[in-house]
Amino acid sequence: MSATPQASGAARKVTPLTFREKKAQHQPISVLTAYDVATAQAVERAGLDAILVGDSLGMVVLGYETTLPVTMDGMLHHCRAVARGARRPLLIGDMPFLSYQVSLEDAVRNAGRFLQEGGMEAVKLEGGRERLPAVQAIVGAGIPVMGHLGLTPQSVHLLGGFRPQARTAEAARRLLEDALLLEQAGCFGIVLESVPARLGEFVSRRLAIPTIGIGAGAGCDGQVLVANDVLGLFERFTPRFAKAYASLFGEMVRAFEAYRTEVEAGVFPAAEHSLGMDEAVWQEFATGADEAPGT
Ligand code: KIV
Repeated sequence: MSATPQASGAARKVTPLTFREKKAQHQPISVLTAYDVATAQAVERAGLDAILVGDSLGMVVLGYETTLPVTMDGMLHHCRAVARGARRPLLIGDMPFLSYQVSLEDAVRNAGRFLQEGGMEAVKLEGGRERLPAVQAIVGAGIPVMGHLGLTPQSVHLLGGFRPQARTAEAARRLLEDALLLEQAGCFGIVLESVPARLGEFVSRRLAIPTIGIGAGAGCDGQVLVANDVLGLFERFTPRFAKAYASLFGEMVRAFEAYRTEVEAGVFPAAEHSLGMDEAVWQEFATGADEAPGT
C-alpha cells in the first residue's frame, strides 16, 4: 500500500485551505519572497509555508526605485524559475502594476497567466474596496486571491512615498472595513504592510482568513519578508521592519575579491580545477598540430 505524504511523515503540500487551518489552530504562517530557483529550493528546504514571487523583484533584483516598471512577462519569467524549485510551499504570484486595475477581463486573464504560464497556485493584488470586482472576478474563475492593504507599493506616488499607513483613527477604520470586504469578496488571506502593530492584531482577530504581516506586528497570523532583506543582500535601502538573518552582500564581495586575487596571482585555476588529457591522445594531437596549416 502506498503511503500518503501525511501517513509517511512527509510534509504536506500547502494550499489556501492550509492557511485557514493554521489560523484556526493558532499556528503562525511563514512566507518569504523568492525570485529564482536556488532561493525557492532553499525556502522549501527550510520548511516555510509559502513563497511569494513579489513584484519587489523590480527593486531588489532589477534595481528600479519602485515596483511600477515590473511587467507581466517579467513576473512570469521569475515565477517559472521559482516553480521549478519548490513544490510543497503554496506558490503565490504578485500581480504587477496595471495588470488588474484597467479592466476585469485583464484582471482575470492576467491572473490566469500566473497559473497557466507561471506555475503559480494563487495570486496577490493590492488595494481595498476599489478592488472588490477584480477579486470577485478572479476568485470566480477559480483562482485563489490574496489581498494586500496598508502600504501598497504600487500606489507609492498617491501615498506620497513608502511610508507607514493607517496612522489616524479614520484611516485605521477604513483599513478594517477594507479587510472585511476583501474577506467577503473571497480572498484567502491578506497582507498587511507597514501599519501599527495594535491595528494588525485587531484586524487579525476580526477576520476568519489569516493576515500576513510585514511591518504590522506580532499579532498577525503570519509574517512575510523579502528574501533579499533576510539574507542581507540588498544594501541600498532596508525598511525598518525587515530583519537580516545573514550578511550575504558582504560575503559575496569577500568571495568575489578572493576570486579576483587568485586569478591575478595565477593561483586559480589549480590542477584540481583543470581537465587532464591522456598522454597518447596528447602525443597524437601534438604531432598533428605541428603539421596543421598556419602553425
Ligand atoms: O512584492 C512583495 O514582495 C510584496 C511583499 C513585501 C508583501 O508585496
